[in-house]
Amino acid sequence: MISFQEYPDYESVSEAASEQLLALVQRKPDAVICVATGATPLLTYQRFVDKVKSEKADVSRVTFVKLDEWVGLAPDNPATCEAFLQLHLLKPLGIEPERYIAFTPDKADHEESARVVREIAECGGLDLCVLGIGKNGHLGLNEPDEWLEPACHITSLDERTRLHDMLKQADRPVEQGITLGLKDILAAKEVLLLVAGEGKQQAFSALRERKVSTKVPASFLWLHPKTSCLYCSM
Ligand code: GLP
Repeated sequence: MISFQEYPDYESVSEAASEQLLALVQRKPDAVICVATGATPLLTYQRFVDKVKSEKADVSRVTFVKLDEWVGLAPDNPATCEAFLQLHLLKPLGIEPERYIAFTPDKADHEESARVVREIAECGGLDLCVLGIGKNGHLGLNEPDEWLEPACHITSLDERTRLHDMLKQADRPVEQGITLGLKDILAAKEVLLLVAGEGKQQAFSALRERKVSTKVPASFLWLHPKTSCLYCSM
């Protein structure tokens, strides 16, 4: 089920989401948290970092998991999800490499998918998955299609995803991604879906129809027992 919580603006969505992240790490100092990238969660992460510092919360045993990654870019390319997470979350929080599970951008293959899934299981599974929704309704890089691949996989990017703002900084065209599958996302104990920004109305309306469709991968969250969707008034 998805419970929807409306907020007046992006700042208040981010404030509420960062509070939830802080509450989780205070309640469970060894939490395993899967994190999306992109414009939507950016301010949530910045506020979370500020709160961790001001509250002196101990995040040394928290494990972060990268949700997805563009395939084929060098790991230090500013367009990568890697660079985003290092800059906005991992470095400011001082997360040790052994507390971070992630696909390597320039080594995306089936072995890499298997390694990430195995390491998540070894940590006891995801406590929380922080997600955004794509303009095309995608979740992670699970793209709309006639059928969906449930497991962690390499995906061919939808035309709209190839135009994602993050990729404007890429030094070459990106046509593929690697992503946790819907099976991995739905196995998280809790999901926090953030919806804000331009161009999300169509995908968000489709999500609110309460119908599960492979054309709207985010709609699979109706099958999850505990998803909160924090969204801006649109
Ligand atoms: C990309 C990211 C996803 C993100 C989505 C939405 O596909 N890899 O993790 O959820 O875009 O991005 P934005 O929040 O910038 O709209």
